[in-house]
Parts: sequence; structure tokens; C-alpha cells
Amino acid sequence: MSKYPEVKTADDFHHQPVEYQEAVRKIIRSHALNELYGAQVFDEPAIALAPTPYAKWLTCRVAMEEYHHHVRFKELADQIGVSADEMQPDKKRPLNIFEFPLQTWEEFCAIKMLGDLAEILQVEDLLHCSYLPLRNVARITMPEERFHAQFGLDFCGDLCETREGKARVQDAVNRFYPGAPRFFGSSGSKNNAIFRKYAIKMRKNEEMRDDYMARAKDAVDKLGLRLPEVPLAA
Ligand SMILES: [Fe+2]
Ligand SMILES: [Fe+2]
Repeated sequence: MSKYPEVKTADDFHHQPVEYQEAVRKIIRSHALNELYGAQVFDEPAIALAPTPYAKWLTCRVAMEEYHHHVRFKELADQIGVSADEMQPDKKRPLNIFEFPLQTWEEFCAIKMLGDLAEILQVEDLLHCSYLPLRNVARITMPEERFHAQFGLDFCGDLCETREGKARVQDAVNRFYPGAPRFFGSSGSKNNAIFRKYAIKMRKNEEMRDDYMARAKDAVDKLGLRLPEVPLAA
């Protein structure tokens, strides 16, 4: 892992090389947008899909936390002067993981179990980030992402108690999971090399993707489910 001096404040940030500033802006923007998309297309609509008052309450909590994650990352973006224009989603390259058309409670539970696991890996990779305000947000966010993935695992576990429920969860996994490994970006990525050069991130995309796929397998194994084959990632 590369060493880079800690950058303690937004003020210090502006004294870093332009390449460093660009890299931090990119990663904060990406987290702020991902948190917002996820909350809008999955978590908030899932409140209506939740089958019991208890499930609705917990889903409300998840949705509230995901919006809060966006707010936290957006605050970081504001502190370093990311413009409103830069915070617009990139129309040319929509993030494939958010294009899944959520329609059922089983799908939402599978998304939390496997999608939020991907988010856990992304946040873990920032726990030693050289930009301290970002490291701090990652550390605050981490337990909540763990709660979301556990929420998914627990509710999938409940659904898997019946044969029909298990078949529906397996079907959701089969349709959601193939897009998930692409969330980690391409192998040999130049952006990722810059993130590592400045100790903003720790691991290569391909290392994270391999780890994700192994951890996703562990998660579904616990429920007696299988991951579908995915085409080998680039
Ligand atoms: Fe989140
Ligand atoms: Fe989450």
C-alpha cells in the first residue's frame, strides 16, 4: 500500500497536487451519487413492498440511513467545492447495478444481501484513506452498511424457510447478481492506480471484485442458495 501524508481538512486538500484533488473529488462524487440512486430506486420504494409493519419499520430505517449516507458524502463534496453540475448523474454511463427493475420484496432482500455487501467492500477500502474527512465518513457509515447487508441476509433467511420463498429468493439472486461484480470497475484501471498512488483507496479493482465474489458466495451458501455463473469480468 502506498504511503501518502494524511490530508486533515478541506483547507489542506486545496494544497494537494491537482491529480490528488481530482481523484478525491471523483470518489466522493461517486459515493454521493450511488447512495442517492440506491435510496431512490431501491430503499424508498421497498417500504411499500415490505410485508409486515416490522419489515416496513426496518426498511424505513434502511432508507433513512441510505439518504443520510448521500447527505454525508454530499457535505464532503460541498466542502471541497464540487459543483452542482458535477453532481449530476453521468447520462452516458448509467451505473448498471441501479438499473435492476425492483418489483418484489424478495428482490429487495436479495439486493440488500448482495448489493450492500458490495457497498461494504467499497467503504472498507476507504477506512485508511489519506483524506481524513472521507476516512471519517467511511468509518461512520460502515456499521450501517453492515446492518443493511445483515438485514438482507436475515430477511432472505426468513423467506427461505418455505420452498416457494426459497425459489423466489434464488430467482432474485439469479437476476440481480450477474451485474454486481461490474460494480468494482475494470481490471488494470488507471483511475484505481491513481487512488492507490495517493493512498485514497487500498486495493485494486480486480482484488476487490474477487473478494466480493467469494464473500457473496459465503452469504448465499448460508441459505442453501447458489450464485449464478457470471461471465468473466474484464
Ligand atoms: Fe449506503
Ligand atoms: Fe446500504
